[in-house]
Amino acid sequence: MSKDTLSVTDNRTGKTYELPIQNETIKATDLRQIKVKDDDFGMMSYDPAFGNTASCTSRVTFIDGEKGILRYRGYPIEQLAEKSNFLEVAYLLIHGELPNKTEYGNWEHDITHHTYIHENIKKLIESFRYDAHPMGMMMGTVAALSTFYPKAKEIFDTGIQKLEIRRLIAKMPTIAGFSYRHTMGLPFNYPDNDLSYAGNFLNMMFKMTETKYEPNPAIEKAIDVLFILHADHEQNCSASAMRNVGSSHPDPYSATAAAIAALYGPLHGGANEAVLEMLAEIGTKDQIPKFIERAKKGEFRLMGFGHRVYKAYDPRAQIIKGIAHDVFEVTGANPLLEMALELEKIALEDEYFVKRRLYPNVDFYSGLIYQSMGLPTSMFTVLFAIARTAGWLAQWLEFLNDPEARIARPRQVYLGEGERDFVPMGKRK
Ligand code: SDX
Repeated sequence: MSKDTLSVTDNRTGKTYELPIQNETIKATDLRQIKVKDDDFGMMSYDPAFGNTASCTSRVTFIDGEKGILRYRGYPIEQLAEKSNFLEVAYLLIHGELPNKTEYGNWEHDITHHTYIHENIKKLIESFRYDAHPMGMMMGTVAALSTFYPKAKEIFDTGIQKLEIRRLIAKMPTIAGFSYRHTMGLPFNYPDNDLSYAGNFLNMMFKMTETKYEPNPAIEKAIDVLFILHADHEQNCSASAMRNVGSSHPDPYSATAAAIAALYGPLHGGANEAVLEMLAEIGTKDQIPKFIERAKKGEFRLMGFGHRVYKAYDPRAQIIKGIAHDVFEVTGANPLLEMALELEKIALEDEYFVKRRLYPNVDFYSGLIYQSMGLPTSMFTVLFAIARTAGWLAQWLEFLNDPEARIARPRQVYLGEGERDFVPMGKRK
């Protein structure tokens, strides 16, 4: 008997099955042979939130949740955060290797020269209500971009893949900046090609009457590192949405709009916004124990805590804590920082959180930094989406090139009514 198999005995029939093991997994479809009657559909696995189901093979990002390890294409996040920049990391995620000097120069030139959006898209952004949430504006605007680039539907044309990936990465900061300026009632700032990716984002957000915006180097660096930390995270909810929607072969703008929608939720990318709202609701340090007790009763989730994969400190949260220090040197300490540090300290000593291995995640401190930079909470998840677009596109491209990829169409366990006849209105209860 081969060692790389799982022997499964169905005690209903006494039959034993040998299921091949590959990459520490069995194929769920191998379970279908397990039947009681020959005309049975066959056994399925049931995993409603995919907590123990691999939806794909991937070479983009590796996470070890037990050890708090995160690597993009094999490179530890700590090294990339310290030594690389976001555009180089975006190249790495999408192409699989760090670029050489020429490759990087071409990549940076291409991204820089695709930052403009069609003036009609500007009008679309202007048509949103003054108080529209920037994530809703970004989601709608990215979806609308699919109508401006109809050839993007040719998703298997490698030239078009290349062009649309550059367009999306380039235009996300412009859409973010225009959306922010719209909510502030301020004139839009156009891209400045002399600036870095992060610097240009700050320019489109904050340039006022000065003829040329000059980003603060510490803030520009912090934004760039935050973009690196948020760039990808293997099969998270929004990346799964990108692959799921992408599996029916729409254009990448439509798939990215779906990923933005998934990220918008407070359990996912929306958590950084929810952390600030939670800290504001707690109000003062002496109120923390009361809130901790409420979280332990399940009355609400401690936002920015816990993770489906990390059962140790999120490595990104560690790095972000370091960035916070650099930013607060420039902006002045965020008064909520003391509260966040106290909340973390109390939670990490509390049995409820220790037993469930709930640690601060990437969202716990990032919002404090954004707030100190003068960003409104409604923009926090928008920054997450700018960065994660590189990861979503890397996952999407990998899916398109995966020989095992097919349209996503899960099964279900039907627990509803058996067959029954229609009841005319007059005879219903
Ligand atoms: C991101 O997937 C990714 O990689 C996401 C992300 C990425 O980069 O893409 O890392 C980004 O989304 C980070 C997570 C941001 N979300 C939050 O901070 C929201 C608060 N966190 C939780 O809602 C929760 O921890 C999740 C959603 C992140 C994970 O939920 P799981 O894995 O489904 O965990 P669970 O709901 O099964 O919880 C296990 C237990 C439960 O208690 P019991 O039922 O066992 O008694 O832990 C408890 C939960 O009640 N719990 C929490 C908690 N998180 C889990 N209790 C209080 N506060 C929390 N934050």
